Amino acid sequence: RKQVFKLSTGSKSLDKLLGGGIESMSITEVFGEFGTGKTQLSHTLCVTAQMPGCNGYLGGKVVFIDTENTFRPTRLQAIANRFNLDPTTVLHNILYARAYNSEHQYELLRNVAAKFHEEAGVFKLLIIDSIMALFRVDYTGRGEIADRQQKLAQMLSRLKKISEEYNVAVFITNQITADLTHINQPDIKKPVGGNILAHATTTRVSLYKGIDGIRIAKIYGSPDLEENETMFSITSGGIDD
Ligand code: GTP
Ligand code: MG
Repeated sequence: RKQVFKLSTGSKSLDKLLGGGIESMSITEVFGEFGTGKTQLSHTLCVTAQMPGCNGYLGGKVVFIDTENTFRPTRLQAIANRFNLDPTTVLHNILYARAYNSEHQYELLRNVAAKFHEEAGVFKLLIIDSIMALFRVDYTGRGEIADRQQKLAQMLSRLKKISEEYNVAVFITNQITADLTHINQPDIKKPVGGNILAHATTTRVSLYKGIDGIRIAKIYGSPDLEENETMFSITSGGIDD
């Protein structure tokens, strides 16, 4: 039987907001403007996923799919040090892949599934930073949106299947765009990817910048979790309270 587990974000209050952390067998999405901490959170999870956690979770390996060339081994070393882990071992336990276009990103998931099958129970976390970046580049025209959403749906269905079949946490980051349904309130932003992405994700978290470098995380449109918010910070050791 598959036992659902939760991965720590590095921040106790953010974990609490999420009901304990990033959950396996589901897709968790964070979105927000540049510098809100999406990539830093991805890096922190790469490390915390390797550590023992609650309910007998023993830690495991990670797959990181990088679409914007934002993966930084030196950042991981600093985060590993914070948790008293050997940086070399931490890096060794991360399978890194760079995706060059949306089709490639989709195809990589086939390789990921094969790997998870081959090394059963070894991988616990799959990260895609960011989920929509390449789709936005590949489908630019207004007339291409339907096509884009169809391809996106295929990719998300593959992601969901992977998360459930191999009991891994899927963590994706996303970008924002102006919400044109609130045309007179230009500050209102929403994640890209439309209904297709909204339906595929189990938990969506909106990240904002607060004062003095503080970051704010807010649960977005979840039926299960209250629309609470919390503060967190980005330190050299990764995401923290
Ligand atoms: P985009 O990918 O550009 O949309 O942004 P993002 O949300 O991925 O932001 P990212 O996670 O890259 O966060 C960048 C922010 O992290 C910077 O503005 C810094 O505030 C912070 N940061 C990055 N590295 C360090 C570090 O070594 N120490 C500390 N204290 N903060 C850092
Ligand atoms: Mg980033």
